[in-house]
Amino acid sequence: PAQELRFDGQTVVVTGAGGGLGKAYATFFGSRGANVVVNDLGGSFKGEGQSTKAADVVVNEIKAAGGKAVANYDSVENGERIVETAIKAFGRVDILINNAGILRDVSFKNMKDQDWDLIFAVHVKGSFKTARAAWPHFRKQKYGRVINTSSAAGLFGNFGQCNYSAAKMAMVGFTETLAKEGLKYNILCNTVAPIAASRLTETIMPPEVLQALTPDRIVPLVACLVHPSNTDETGAIFEVGGGHMAKLRWERAKGALLRADESMTAGAIVKKWADVADFSAPDYPTGAANFLELLEDAQKLPPNPPSEPLSFKDKVVLI
Ligand code: NAI
Repeated sequence: PAQELRFDGQTVVVTGAGGGLGKAYATFFGSRGANVVVNDLGGSFKGEGQSTKAADVVVNEIKAAGGKAVANYDSVENGERIVETAIKAFGRVDILINNAGILRDVSFKNMKDQDWDLIFAVHVKGSFKTARAAWPHFRKQKYGRVINTSSAAGLFGNFGQCNYSAAKMAMVGFTETLAKEGLKYNILCNTVAPIAASRLTETIMPPEVLQALTPDRIVPLVACLVHPSNTDETGAIFEVGGGHMAKLRWERAKGALLRADESMTAGAIVKKWADVADFSAPDYPTGAANFLELLEDAQKLPPNPPSEPLSFKDKVVLI
């Protein structure tokens, strides 16, 4: 059997830990020696109402099993209070799992400001506020582990979820920047795009699929990423669910390079479109293309051949 990952003496903050994935994370860390802050606002999946019950149930479960846990009932929009709970109860914070989330699904045509704002308040602002509050502690102790939660809907888009998709893709950029800023302080930050049975998914997947996608199948990967034995995996995105886990990354096509002068027209680009979208020998960038170097190379090229104005015909060829 694999060695058991332990978290003795460490403090883990799990947001939205009153149910679903958050509960699975919290009970796991509670069973592995960690001090756990079980945060949950206790509202509906659409972000309405609040209650202390969701967090209390999980805290009691962890304690009954011999673990250490305290509840926090604040919205992640007040993330500083959640971190305060950790410091008051346990004197430190080592791991932050930004997991709290809601859905406000509606077609783009019918999406209201409130649906957009509420999703951004919880997912984006909530993750920001909680991480920002934990950050000085991480820096001071030169140790921190952060998990932010994205979604396939964010990475690939999904009907009825333009608000949620935008917020979930925001988690990727947010995490990549935190990974860069945190590296020299030994703060490692990764993104997970989970898929699991919960109240968010119970109505959109058949029961036999849900059965295979239990929340506890998300936990081990997250545990690896936030364990002290992870010393270099940071700024990455992982798709995880039902026992499958895979890293995702960016892919850059060969690209077209044109001489940047008056001959660089839309028509010239269309002629080179095959190169723009040529993924036969891609690279896997972790930063922007080296534009200064490319610019120099481009100036060595001959002027672009004159081309006819763009026509509808060109566009059809493109597609
Ligand atoms: P869930 O609804 O079971 O759990 C989310 C928890 O967050 C709830 O207990 C809720 O009370 C809490 N919460 C909501 N707003 C909060 C706030 N403002 N402050 C504090 N707590 C709040 O849903 P699930 O599925 O466990 O979701 C966990 C995370 O995983 C979410 O970020 C979700 O978007 C994400 N996710 C889940 C997927 C799935 O297949 N279940 C797919 C992709 C992403």
